[in-house]
Amino acid sequence: MMNYDAALKKLREAGQEHVLRFFDTLEDAEKEGLLKQIEKTDFSVLQNIRHRGVPLTRGAFSPLAAMELPEIEANRAQFTKTGEEAIRAGKVAAVLLAGGMGTRLGSDLPKGMFNIGETKTIYIFQRLIENLREVTDALCPVRLFIMTSEKNHDVTVRFLKEQNFFGYPEEKVTFFEQDMAPACDYDGKVFMEAKDQIATSPNGNAGWYVSMIKAGLDKLLREEGIEWLNIFSVDNVLQRIAEPAFVGACIERRVECGAKVVRKNAPDEAVGVMCLEDGKPSIVEYYDLTKEMMDAKDEKGEPAYNFGVILNYLFYEPALQRIVKKELPLHVVEKKIAHIDEEGNEVRPEAPNGCKFEQLVLDMIHELDSCLPYEVVREHDFAPVKNRTGVDSVDTARELLKKAGIAL
Ligand code: UTP
Repeated sequence: MMNYDAALKKLREAGQEHVLRFFDTLEDAEKEGLLKQIEKTDFSVLQNIRHRGVPLTRGAFSPLAAMELPEIEANRAQFTKTGEEAIRAGKVAAVLLAGGMGTRLGSDLPKGMFNIGETKTIYIFQRLIENLREVTDALCPVRLFIMTSEKNHDVTVRFLKEQNFFGYPEEKVTFFEQDMAPACDYDGKVFMEAKDQIATSPNGNAGWYVSMIKAGLDKLLREEGIEWLNIFSVDNVLQRIAEPAFVGACIERRVECGAKVVRKNAPDEAVGVMCLEDGKPSIVEYYDLTKEMMDAKDEKGEPAYNFGVILNYLFYEPALQRIVKKELPLHVVEKKIAHIDEEGNEVRPEAPNGCKFEQLVLDMIHELDSCLPYEVVREHDFAPVKNRTGVDSVDTARELLKKAGIAL
């Protein structure tokens, strides 16, 4: 293990000596823990703070036509048949991205443990598993991978075990942890979470595939013949998971990935929009959407950039193997970061006070050759819980759930 001098040298080179501010006051075990953390932390990501607020360089955007509802309806029987066959043959698995910290929701517990019910208890995890079970109870269970992070792994596992995985067969559930990255203030100085601990946060939702491989799960995929991975976020309480028609459409259209998309409800709605960038599938963030793009029309006279992603994708795993070594862009994201100040007092900020560094799953899509944007109806598939109140909140999600006939 790294000794004090080596740690100090590493920190000096990174301009982070303050990490050792409380070192002399620590117990031996705490000292050891901190030295270990310094040893394993890659401080070089902090240099990206200089990119804060600077948009990433993008290529030339052009529209990518979505498969819209009429086409889906016309082919639904065929798509469903193909999807069901793939599911029955064990070729499809679901991957729940539950490593995030859900800072906007502001609960200390993992987001999946949030009770979205009103008169009864309905945990978000329960809602997601109920939706998955709609498919798997009728066909057969699929493997469910759950990504957690160091921050929420133990509590997530304990909770789901206590709840008996909400009726999902435990032997089909596999957890894996994603990696962490240090979090810092606007000057690039890493925050301390405690006197013996550097503040870290999960390294973004693109970490899922690399982390699966690190956990040795690629072998399991091969052994079981899993070819398609349906990744989905923890906070959309309506989405259909491993939906046969969606799976079938991707297989029939021979794409490397499929993305569930919803028709935008306003040209400037705050969702990432599916498109092509330099001829490859991509997602343009709403704040990068120019007036010209908002006004552009397709050959039917409809807005050309009209379909937003909902973080529910189906990846063809052999295609991911090809791109796994590619370096994805690092996004500098402003967040509320709890920490201790110079006197050691705890600070729980009310507003963003620093940055985290994340790789995002949407950048994986850009590395692939093809993607099928597959239209879903908002009221069936999209009720995100990001905030406590207001837009995309507990309140809006409850309304949508009730509309969908789910008793709360
Ligand atoms: P968000 O970016 O909306 O979630 O992630 P967040 O970071 O948890 O929330 P805020 O911004 O702090 O409020 C969308 C999905 O990606 C997962 C989340 O758990 C959620 O399902 N995610 C995000 C990860 O699994 N790992 C990450 O590092 C980040």
